[in-house]
Amino acid sequence: MWQCPLGLLLLLLLPGESALGARRGRGRRELAPALHLRGIRDAGGRYCQEQDLCCRGRADDCALPYLGATCYCDLFCNRTVSDCCPDFWDFCLGVPPPFPPIQGCMHGGRIYPVLGTYWDNCNRCTCQEKGQWECDQEPCLVDQDMIDAINQGNYGWRAGNHSAFWGMTLDEGIRYRLGTIRPPSSVTNMNEIHTVLLPGEVLPTAFEASEKWPNLIHEPLDQGNCAGSWAFSTAAVASDRVSIHSLGHMTPVLSPQNLLSCDKHNQHGCRGGRLDGAWWFLRRRGVVSDHCYPFSGREPDEAGPKPRCMMHSRPMGRGKRQATARCPNHLVHANDIYQVTPAYRLGSSEKEIMKELMENGPVQALMEVHEDFFLYQGGIYSHTPVSLGRPERYRRHGTHSVKITGWGEDTLPDGRTLKYWTAANSWGPAWGERGHFRIMRGANECDIESFVLGVWGRVGMEDMNHH
Ligand SMILES: *[C@@H]1O[C@H](CO)[C@@H](O)[C@H](O)[C@H]1NC(C)=O
Ligand SMILES: *[C@@H]1O[C@H](CO)[C@@H](O)[C@H](O)[C@H]1NC(C)=O
Repeated sequence: MWQCPLGLLLLLLLPGESALGARRGRGRRELAPALHLRGIRDAGGRYCQEQDLCCRGRADDCALPYLGATCYCDLFCNRTVSDCCPDFWDFCLGVPPPFPPIQGCMHGGRIYPVLGTYWDNCNRCTCQEKGQWECDQEPCLVDQDMIDAINQGNYGWRAGNHSAFWGMTLDEGIRYRLGTIRPPSSVTNMNEIHTVLLPGEVLPTAFEASEKWPNLIHEPLDQGNCAGSWAFSTAAVASDRVSIHSLGHMTPVLSPQNLLSCDKHNQHGCRGGRLDGAWWFLRRRGVVSDHCYPFSGREPDEAGPKPRCMMHSRPMGRGKRQATARCPNHLVHANDIYQVTPAYRLGSSEKEIMKELMENGPVQALMEVHEDFFLYQGGIYSHTPVSLGRPERYRRHGTHSVKITGWGEDTLPDGRTLKYWTAANSWGPAWGERGHFRIMRGANECDIESFVLGVWGRVGMEDMNHH
């Protein structure tokens, strides 16, 4: 057994920093502290045996890479704090190691103790008594199998890993990233306004609000893990429409937080709310700008009271209102209250929505979000069947609301023409197409044409002198 094949040893020593380090450190052999607090006590693995390496006395070259550090197959390694390779005793000495093998599990070049954990995307893995990992089996929001299936399936859009969603379960995505409550039928039927297309009227094949109204269309918002899309989409559409209808005299980014914290009637802040309630509040109470009342964010499962309303308003005649509190952001003094006229529902016909958009600005749309939408990175979205073969818990959906800003059409490589809407989501600028997405138009994809709202900014003559 006592042999030290020189050629093999040189080969082992040429590459690898750890071997060189071992040669340099003649006085003392360093142990990587994180790995070997009590010495190398991992009973598993073939090291000395793999390379047929056993050396007498002290031989600092008689070393092998071990979990990012170095272990030794020389007799000198057998010390109080051992740096022997795990199989040194067994293979070189033919005796059991002088300590009981540790119980633990390996992951990513580390040994974890029993009950140690690491995260595999959204699932926690725990080291079991027998040295085996056991991982939770929750469906994750970012699912590599789904990404691959979508990208191989030629569905007209690309899927990918949106890093803010990494580590979240699909259930958390549905619970924290949406947050619009589907209105009861009494609301869905009311206030419907039918735009009449004139005979022979032709709408352009493509339209984008930001081209017709430069500098008046605001960038997508980020609701974070606040299930408050009801407030975000309402603030987004109202911001654009106030800017358009005031001819650019006012271009506020309106405050979703004002709605989340203060519109309490049957609304649930970051746990969801209704669009009709949000528009009622904007009409009757009004909200301040986002600068004045910034978004405070919310972590999932935050217990405790909902945030207190920090802004109130009172009538100042002619239906207008003024703030009775300073801005929650003390650096901002302008606490003007912005209001709108009653919101109206559009007919569900594609053409009516297009005409309204072109004439009056972006519209708000309810949307049913499915598991694959979270993965969208670009292209023309339509819900794919890639999860159909999987258990129910992989196929989830929830109600959301977004801002539609335009439309267009695209010819695919296979010659098909796809008509689409362009819309702004509220998942930040890093998601999708710089925070926007395109979705199939004219087919009520994900219910996006079923409940579409418009509104007029409440703009008086005096507002025209603003700013
Ligand atoms: C290795 O170390 C243990 C504990 O210090 C000791 O009992 C044993 O005799 C040593 N073995 C050899 C071969 O030196
Ligand atoms: C997804 O993104 C996260 C965060 O950027 C990253 O840590 C993770 O490794 C990525 N996952 C995959 C499968 O690419």
